[in-house]
Amino acid sequence: MKYDDIGLLANIGVRHLPLSMIQKASIDELVSIHGSPLLLLDCQVLREQYQLLKHALPNVTLHFALKPLPHDAVVKTLLEQGACFDLASNGEVDMVRKQGVQPAHTIHTHPIKRDSDIRYAMDYGCRRFVIDSLNELEKFIPYKHEVSLFLRLSFPNADVFSDLSKKFGCALEDALHIVSRAQALGICLNGLSFHVGSQTQDAQRYVFAIEKSWQLIKQIKDHHLPAIECLDIGGGFPIAYGDEALNIETFCQPVRQALSKLDKSIQVLAEPGRFIVAPAVMSVASVMGQAMRGGKPWYYLDDGVYGSFSGILFDHGHYPIDVLNVQGPKVPSVLAGPTCDSIDVIDEHIMLPKLRDGDLIVTRMMGAYTCATATDFNFFKKANIIALNE
Ligand SMILES: Cc1ncc(COP(=O)(O)O)c(C=O)c1O
Repeated sequence: MKYDDIGLLANIGVRHLPLSMIQKASIDELVSIHGSPLLLLDCQVLREQYQLLKHALPNVTLHFALKPLPHDAVVKTLLEQGACFDLASNGEVDMVRKQGVQPAHTIHTHPIKRDSDIRYAMDYGCRRFVIDSLNELEKFIPYKHEVSLFLRLSFPNADVFSDLSKKFGCALEDALHIVSRAQALGICLNGLSFHVGSQTQDAQRYVFAIEKSWQLIKQIKDHHLPAIECLDIGGGFPIAYGDEALNIETFCQPVRQALSKLDKSIQVLAEPGRFIVAPAVMSVASVMGQAMRGGKPWYYLDDGVYGSFSGILFDHGHYPIDVLNVQGPKVPSVLAGPTCDSIDVIDEHIMLPKLRDGDLIVTRMMGAYTCATATDFNFFKKANIIALNE
């Protein structure tokens, strides 16, 4: 039975349907209630993604990284699933505090912080922080009796969306020096961490980083430095944006194997972001107007690159775009955003049927690094986020 057929178009009904079942009438209804553009966040998908990764990495404590989709409903849903959290800013601290997350279930992973940021997180109760330099280590001298630190290592990976090791992480050869300096300062440095880069498609990147970290843990022991008790394998777990098959259980198999070689006493953590939220959001935008330019139809939407499609610029995003229930022959067309800037073009080579003003465009896989990096440039308001299945 199709959702439209059962006639439950009340808002409450729509809120409890999976995204995959929401039909044109339901989306029209949501747009008529909430306006356009919208982002439909399906909390049930969040639960499923969290459980999939939990199952694929059974002995790893998952700290959801808020940055790809910092939203109350996401934190609340994942908290109910037993997730821990990865924080990187004062705003993220506020968000988890508001949802009643236990500070002991958080880590602060930004390698570069002001003293005021450290104090803000400590006032909340967070006690585990990441550093990647001597400069950052020394910021913890005043708090040395209260905190424990992870040393973030750099494992460059040019193949990914975002090679975080270019910007953060100490070189392996500098690690021993920082660990011994921590010992000399009386600061507890008992963890190592890394991030192999966002949307990492090659599990061997994790394997390599885990093996190198394990070697370093043994070296630290050989030098009679305080033991490393935790390894944080970061985020980066990939998602299928197109038709490619990506099974996270299979992807993580070599990661599990590499982790199984560590000493059993080492606690392993991860900081997944994208994998959990990307499939949970569908965007809905409306055609505001149109023109023929250079022989092609240009359709101007009320959401664009300065809004929910900001991931096109910041995240190299390619999202699956569909037209909601418009039939007809498809021709090469252009989809543009609403602002007056020429960079605000979502897709210059998209096959579309003839659209009318007001038609709706839906885009899947819009949960990660989309609205999080959106602006309201030109005063075009950001998309409203509607949480379904809370
Ligand atoms: C420190 C840290 N942890 C976790 C994440 C989340 O990574 P991903 O969304 O690729 O899983 C990021 C992303 O930038 C990060 O910088």
